[in-house]
Amino acid sequence: MSIINAAITAVGGYLPEDKITNADLEKMVDTNDEWIMTRVGIRERRILKDPTKGASFLGIEAVKDLFSRNNIDPATIDGIILATNTADYHFPTTASIVAFETGCINAFTFDMQAACPSFIYALEAGANYIRSGRYKRIIVLAAEKMTAITDYTDRATCPLFGDGAACVLLEPTEENEGVLDSYFRTDGTGRTNLIMKSGGSASPTSHETVDRREHYVYQEGAAVFKQAVKGMSSSCRTIMERNGLSYDDIAWVVPHQANLRIIDAVAREMQVPLDRVMVNIEYRGNTSSATIPLCLWEFEKQLKKGDNLILTSFGAGFTWGAVYVKWAYDPKN
Ligand code: UT7
Repeated sequence: MSIINAAITAVGGYLPEDKITNADLEKMVDTNDEWIMTRVGIRERRILKDPTKGASFLGIEAVKDLFSRNNIDPATIDGIILATNTADYHFPTTASIVAFETGCINAFTFDMQAACPSFIYALEAGANYIRSGRYKRIIVLAAEKMTAITDYTDRATCPLFGDGAACVLLEPTEENEGVLDSYFRTDGTGRTNLIMKSGGSASPTSHETVDRREHYVYQEGAAVFKQAVKGMSSSCRTIMERNGLSYDDIAWVVPHQANLRIIDAVAREMQVPLDRVMVNIEYRGNTSSATIPLCLWEFEKQLKKGDNLILTSFGAGFTWGAVYVKWAYDPKN
C-alpha cells in the first residue's frame, strides 16, 4: 500500500486595510518609534476597526481568497480547522461561522487553540485527516483579531499585535512532499507569564475583572523572550536532525513573528542566513497564530516545488514546536 502524504496545494489570506502606526501609538501611550523599531522591529500593524466584526470576518475573507484565486468549489471541502486565540465567541465555534459564510456545506469544522503555535498544531491535525485516507480536502485556517484583546493603555503590549487571517488547503499526494514531520512540546511553566486573566471559567467576567482590565493580553515580555528563542531553536534542530537536513537543505525557515530580535536569534542558532527566513513583522506585527500562514501567503510566489520549509512557533503555556513541510507546487502565474 502506498503512503498518503498531505500536501499544501494552495494558500489564501486577508489583511484588513486600516493600520496603526508607531506615530499613532505615540499619541496613546508613553512610547516612541525608535524603541518599538529597535526592541521589536514593528513599524505598523493592521487593524479590523469595525467593533461588530470578529475573527470570523478575517477568516471568511481569507477562505474566499483561497477559493477565488484557485477556482475551488466550496462544496468539495471536507473540513475546516480554525486556529485562533480570539474566537468570535466561546461558542459556537468560529470555524462553523466561516464554513457557513463561505458555502462549505459538506465540511466538518472545529476551532483549535494552542496559543501562538495553534496554526502549526492545526496543520499537523489536518494532515492526519488526509493521511487517514478518509478526507480529501481540508482547510487549515488561522484568524486573529488580536486588537480586540490588546490594551491600548499598556505600552508593554500595545505595540505588538495586529489582525489578519490566512489559510492553506491540504490534499493527498503519494509523492514525498507536504507535511512530513512535526515536533511539539508544552511545559506549563510559563502559564502566568502570558495570559488573559479573566473571561474563562477560572475567573468569569465580572465588573471587577473589567475594572482590573483582565480581558486583555498580559505579558511578562522578557521571560517569554528567553524561552521563545530556546523553544523555537531546539525544535528546529530536532526536526533537522530527525530528517537528516543540513542548513544548506533548508530553503526557508518560517518563524512566528513576535519580535525581530527573536527571529534573528533563531536564524543565528540555526545558522540559516536571514535571506532564507520569512519575515513580515515590520508591516504586520504579531498576529498570533496567523503569522506563519500569512508569511506563506505573502511569500507564495517565491516558493518552488521541493523546497524544504521549517515552520516554528512559540507561545503561552509555554507551548512550542516546529513542522517540516516540503513545498508541493511551483508559483502559479
Ligand atoms: O507571541 C507570543 C510570544 N511572545 C513573544 O515571543 C514576545 C517575547 N517578548 C518580547 O518580544 C519582548 O520582551 C518585548 C518586545 C515584549 C519587550 O521588550 P524587552 O526588550 O524585553 O523590554 P522589557 O519589557 O524588558 O522593558 C525594557 C524597558 C523597560 O524600562 P526600564 O524598566 O528598563 O526603565 C520598559 O518599561 O523598556 C520599557 N518599555 C518601553 N519603552 C518605550 C516597555 N515597553 C515600552 C514601550 N516604549 N512600548
